Amino acid sequence: MAEYIGTNLQVSIQKRMRERHVWIEDTPEIANGGRTLNFLDPDKMGWNRVGDLTQEDGVAVFMALPLEETRANLQERLGANWRTPHWDVFFGNAESVLETCNSIISSFVLPVGWRIDSLDTPTERQIDDIQNLNIAVGIAPYPAYYCRGDVIPCVSTCIWDDKCRLVATAMANFRYHPNSRLKGHLYAGSVSVLPDCQGMGLGKMANAALLVDSHRIMGWTTVLEQVKPDNVPSRRMIEACGLTKSQELATILVINSDDQFSA
Ligand SMILES: CC(C)(COP(=O)(O)OP(=O)(O)OC[C@H]1O[C@@H](n2cnc3c(N)ncnc32)[C@H](O)[C@@H]1OP(=O)(O)O)[C@@H](O)C(=O)NCCC(=O)NCCS
Repeated sequence: MAEYIGTNLQVSIQKRMRERHVWIEDTPEIANGGRTLNFLDPDKMGWNRVGDLTQEDGVAVFMALPLEETRANLQERLGANWRTPHWDVFFGNAESVLETCNSIISSFVLPVGWRIDSLDTPTERQIDDIQNLNIAVGIAPYPAYYCRGDVIPCVSTCIWDDKCRLVATAMANFRYHPNSRLKGHLYAGSVSVLPDCQGMGLGKMANAALLVDSHRIMGWTTVLEQVKPDNVPSRRMIEACGLTKSQELATILVINSDDQFSA
């Protein structure tokens, strides 16, 4: 198991996020994304401070904000050598999402000998399996301390086959400050299904079980998930779980290197 994982830049940001956590916990305009610093309210924080922190890290996430306006602000303040890919943002309220997800769960039949668990303190071995499956499907893994819930509550849902091979996983966390714009929101994502098991309903099942189980553990009111605009299976999985795409908001990742980060 890797306490910190990825390229030198990814590891250095993960360490910095851990060191910054006490400050982050006290600051409603930002959130600890584990892999990156998340800005929720750059106007309130002040764009000079936002610019300094983004320059310091070389990467940052601007979470669920108006796309064109935020992108224009970033390009003006940071310059042309920063990339600004975006993710579509989906929201769902607890009542309707839970009803939809419970119906997915009750109609899904796991093959004999397979099992599904939601873990709020996964073991080292389980974290290792989760990180490896994330990497295998191109999702940037979270550092181990974050998966264990050392800094904020986290839940990982895992589906194992009859040979104890992890075939699907998804992760949710409660990262937003109780006085922030996204208070009460669950952040869910990193849904990863082994390539030879994709298209069998496992992603939808893992996501549905994650939302139901994390609600029991954390009591969220709204869920937020994010999808790259060209990722059709992921979008359909999230919509099938009862979430709806925001027409106004998107998440932007700003970065000035070729490292791969997930928003
Ligand atoms: C995205 C991913 C998690 C989906 O899991 P999956 O088990 O393959 O998908 P499911 O079988 O549960 O299907 C989910 C929905 O997508 C649709 N779908 C699945 N594969 C599809 C494809 N190749 N093209 C179009 N739609 C597809 C299914 O029909 C289903 O929609 P429906 O319920 O409306 O019919 C999985 O493909 C994956 O691990 N991809 C790589 C990592 C990734 O992109 N993760 C998402 C990050 S948020």
